Amino acid sequence: KSNEQSVIEAAHELAMKFYHHILLKTEMGAPGLNYLEQRGFTKEMLDTFQLGFAPNHWDSLTSLLEKRGFNLKALENAGLLSLREFDGKVFDRFRNRIMFPIWDGQGNVIAFGGRIIDDGKPKYLNSPETVLFNKSRTLYGIHLARPSIRKLNQAVLFEGYVDVISAWGAGVLNGIATLGTALTEEQAKVIRRNAETVILCYDSDEAGIQATSRAASILVQAGCYVKVALLPEGQDPDDYIRLNGGEHFKRDIIESSLTLMSFKMQYLRRGKNLQDEGERMRYIEEVLNEISDLPRAVERDHYLRQIASEFSLSLDALKQEQFRMYRERR
Ligand code: CTP
Ligand code: MN
Ligand code: MN
Ligand code: MN
Ligand code: MN
Repeated sequence: KSNEQSVIEAAHELAMKFYHHILLKTEMGAPGLNYLEQRGFTKEMLDTFQLGFAPNHWDSLTSLLEKRGFNLKALENAGLLSLREFDGKVFDRFRNRIMFPIWDGQGNVIAFGGRIIDDGKPKYLNSPETVLFNKSRTLYGIHLARPSIRKLNQAVLFEGYVDVISAWGAGVLNGIATLGTALTEEQAKVIRRNAETVILCYDSDEAGIQATSRAASILVQAGCYVKVALLPEGQDPDDYIRLNGGEHFKRDIIESSLTLMSFKMQYLRRGKNLQDEGERMRYIEEVLNEISDLPRAVERDHYLRQIASEFSLSLDALKQEQFRMYRERR
């Protein structure tokens, strides 16, 4: 590790402790603590994920870092401080935000996500990429979740920091999240090194459903067995837990997750009227196409039988049609 990297790590560690202290022990942190309590965060969650609050000042962290002898210019590059162009003064990058420390796989704090506590923009302000922080390689929560992921041979992938933490409170300890971007191949490889099965549990909105499809194919490519946990329309995992409690989340959402093919069938059905012969045929064609993608013959057979029985079609005819598609693509 270079000296530059060690300094950035030390500054992030100090910042994490500082923000956490502000949140829990000071008057300046009261707006943050109120906000988190309103949202149902427990003391245990705040401690485990070391949540903090960046006060609404320009120089809280800056003056602490200066007092501790850090080179402030270097920390501007590290994303903790910002530089005012016209006079070269540095100031706190994160102000008046809930702070979510982001760790690397070894448990070093390497970045922050900062959430605003009203409806200002942007909702989340994240650290920029640095020598230590590579977004496309990092998974939020991985160092905390790893023991559980390995033990269960399964990871649950969420969209947001808050979802990981809420799920943890619900006893789902194998949750991780991407950092506001689409899942990358690198992240999929990291997951595959720790578990075989991945349950995708994204927000149930248009963006989340699209992202689920894309993440699923990347995970399949990486050799993962993919399941999909579906939430009621419009909700995200944290919303669901707040509304229905953690036990329901575990049982009715996580443990009831669908196979990837069932998810795709539901997805292809959306907006189609299967009473209409044309739309029904189009649906069957699309499903057969997905079935042709399945690597295992037993799986292909299973879903062909399901379609045959659902639409009272001859299995032979479906098999012929599907086999034609299968050959065309190889
Ligand atoms: N995100 C981001 N920048 C934004 C919005 C979102 O980086 N302006 C990322 C964050 O990592 C966030 C994730 O995308 O955790 C999911 O976004 P969203 O669903 O909008 O947020 P929630 O996790 O639901 O957060 P909250 O419940 O606090 O609104
Ligand atoms: Mn603490
Ligand atoms: Mn979302
Ligand atoms: Mn969300
Ligand atoms: Mn949310």
